[in-house]
Amino acid sequence: MPQTILYVDDDFALARLATRHLGRAGYEVVHTADSVSAMAAIDKGGIDAVVLDHYLKSETGLDMLRQMKALEVTIPVIYVTGSSDATIAIDALKNGAADYVIKTVGDEFWPLMESAIAQGIATAELKRAKEKADQEIRRGKERAEVLLAEVNHRVANSLALVAALIRLQVSSSKNEDVKAALAETQARISAIAGMHRSLYTSDDVRQVEMDKYLGTLVAEVQGTVSDQQGPCIMLDADPMSLASDRAVSVGMIVTELLTNALKYAYPTGGEGEVRVQLRRQDDGQALLSVEDDGVGWKEGDVPKGTGLGSRIVKSMAATLGSAIHYVPKPSGTRAELLLQLDS
Ligand SMILES: Nc1ncnc2c1ncn2[C@@H]1O[C@H](COP(=O)(O)OP(=O)(O)O)[C@@H](O)[C@H]1O
Ligand SMILES: [Mg+2]
Repeated sequence: MPQTILYVDDDFALARLATRHLGRAGYEVVHTADSVSAMAAIDKGGIDAVVLDHYLKSETGLDMLRQMKALEVTIPVIYVTGSSDATIAIDALKNGAADYVIKTVGDEFWPLMESAIAQGIATAELKRAKEKADQEIRRGKERAEVLLAEVNHRVANSLALVAALIRLQVSSSKNEDVKAALAETQARISAIAGMHRSLYTSDDVRQVEMDKYLGTLVAEVQGTVSDQQGPCIMLDADPMSLASDRAVSVGMIVTELLTNALKYAYPTGGEGEVRVQLRRQDDGQALLSVEDDGVGWKEGDVPKGTGLGSRIVKSMAATLGSAIHYVPKPSGTRAELLLQLDS
């Protein structure tokens, strides 16, 4: 199919010449004498390039260029100016013309015009192809993100189901040790599920918003382990994000420290408090702390329980490139962990 050039000029003789010259070069030429009918022709479609003369009867080509720009018409425009109008040519380029050709009587006018048209069309095609490719990349990325969110959703739901099954087992067990062990397992699984859940509820599918994640985690631990009784957990976390694998390590550590505090810090029960803090430091690090005012515990003391939690905490801290420290204080237990932030 031949490419169609819209030739806008109030000079009918020149337009006839254009039809002949450009026709010989393989173009179909549509002629209009003013911008109104030119815009109508563009609106109809099928125009590959516009040749636009500066001096039209009661307007200039610049007016039409501005209209095209306002309507976001991307068809390349070759601007035709009189021989002495350098500033007009610059104006035309500034207003979106692809190129300009100076009107001369010499032989070079039509070849120059033809090459300007060919260039303009080729550039416009390249631009379109690039935009299409960019759009496809964007769409592909969006699809992948939707898919990833979907996967995280399913993983979270599946883990929640596993946790629910374990809870059933807790309630049907008669042995207190078994109950306690199962309840802790349930809390651990919930911590992992929570990480996946926060991945599909946030804008970024790879980063976990720690303050929100810890919020749900604390609420779940409070529910699963203490059965709505006993110490109250206070959370104070600065907004920050971590990659999902690091987030889950932090989640596991907090779960262990919290279950310990709930289980051991206040053996006589009562209204004790457990404070979880995640504070952003100045040096690209964050300080995680879990603290209670209970009976106290320091490394080296003989565990009342299994010691499994400590092993989990140790290995999770190692994957974070850090270690847990118990800070001595007059009463209760304070565990701290320095965390390198991602960026
Ligand atoms: N906040 C705390 N207050 C008092 N004792 C604690 C505290 N945290 C941990 N402990 C003690 O540390 C021991 C080891 O904990 P952990 O390794 O998590 O094992 P487990 O929870 O199975 O007992 C516990 O048995 C308990 O004696
Ligand atoms: Mg424990």
